[in-house]
Amino acid sequence: MQPAQSRLSLADRVNLISMSATMKVSAEAARLKREGIDVVGFGAGEPDFPTPENIKRAGVAAIEANFTKYTQAGGIPELKEAITAKHAADYGTGYTAAECMVNVGGKHTIFNYTQVLLNPGDECIIPVPYWVTYKDVVNYTGAKCVFVPTDEEKGFTLTAEMLLPYITDKTKMVIINSPSNPSGAVIDNDEFRKILKMTADRGIWLMTDECYDKFVYAGEPFSIAGEPGAKENTIVVGSLSKTYSMTGWRIGFGLAPKEVVAAAQKLQSHSTSNPVSISQKAAIEAVTGPQDAVGEMLAEYRRRRAYVLERVAAIAGLEMAEPGGAFYAYPNVSAVFGKRGITCSLDFAEQLLKEGHVAAVPGEAFGTTEHIRISYAASMDDLERGFDRIQKLVENLLAA
Ligand SMILES: Cc1ncc(COP(=O)(O)O)c(C=O)c1O
Repeated sequence: MQPAQSRLSLADRVNLISMSATMKVSAEAARLKREGIDVVGFGAGEPDFPTPENIKRAGVAAIEANFTKYTQAGGIPELKEAITAKHAADYGTGYTAAECMVNVGGKHTIFNYTQVLLNPGDECIIPVPYWVTYKDVVNYTGAKCVFVPTDEEKGFTLTAEMLLPYITDKTKMVIINSPSNPSGAVIDNDEFRKILKMTADRGIWLMTDECYDKFVYAGEPFSIAGEPGAKENTIVVGSLSKTYSMTGWRIGFGLAPKEVVAAAQKLQSHSTSNPVSISQKAAIEAVTGPQDAVGEMLAEYRRRRAYVLERVAAIAGLEMAEPGGAFYAYPNVSAVFGKRGITCSLDFAEQLLKEGHVAAVPGEAFGTTEHIRISYAASMDDLERGFDRIQKLVENLLAA
């Protein structure tokens, strides 16, 4: 007998999220590569360097020492101490181990803290362009995303003044990402202080995603959490993925008031149990060992960034705000709209992949419709080949 009403359906909340657009692009590029097509991949936000030797060796040593069992849910104490000490040394913060938790990547940190802090009906402010995941993890809580546009002419950077009109009595959290993925924008330190004050005065959580903190091309890395009193309403999201080229090891961390950490730890204890034991040992070496590799990667990104700026400037039809950090370029491609049926960056990215065999992420993934995101965490050889192809496509389109 057929049941009157089938219950073989998905939970409603999963329909509030969509597959990560950046992962989709990488999957499509990988599919074309498997078909033997020479695709240049600018899609993945992933360092192309190997994990530094000393970190790899620490991972191997952990395996050989049989450090291969469950650990404390929020990470081993030595790692928490190493992370808080490094953050203190870099930014003058004063977090204790109880205010620190290690997660399975920074993405997981963001997931944990949005889940434990947001209720359905709350509002969470997200500046545009935003990193894809914020929207989906906030939606998954039932809270509402409130998007704040930024100004391309001003390099997409955020100011307190831009934020103010979007704060309501329902605002529970503001998510900030500086340096930004996808635009590379870096928030001015004084503006960041104003944003901290604005949120602290109103009792609003300020989540600050510092995953690209070490990759800034002018000035010094900065953490708002180093400001006096910031600890009370700030959630720091950190990651070892980009800084130490450890994306696959899956280690991120959160720094927050201890009640909030305890709540996130409860959640984590029922999901992943703990971050991978072996990765945790490697992470201790990453954070406490020599930091030369970070400087070397930064120097290489700086060189590539200069090359990308030069290539973009030389392509008539591409406009770009100069990115101050991270390893992304976010050029405006709207000059080709109207050509060969292209009406948005999604169409352009599709053409670029199909015809130019270059994978880049369309701006729609980040909340804008006129841009593509190019990751320059790619070899110089790929950058050269990729930009030759982009140039050819744009020139062809403009001539059409
Ligand atoms: C802005 C931003 N935050 C967080 C992450 C999370 O990285 P992971 O989960 O590898 O630590 C990423 C990765 O692309 C990112 O771009």
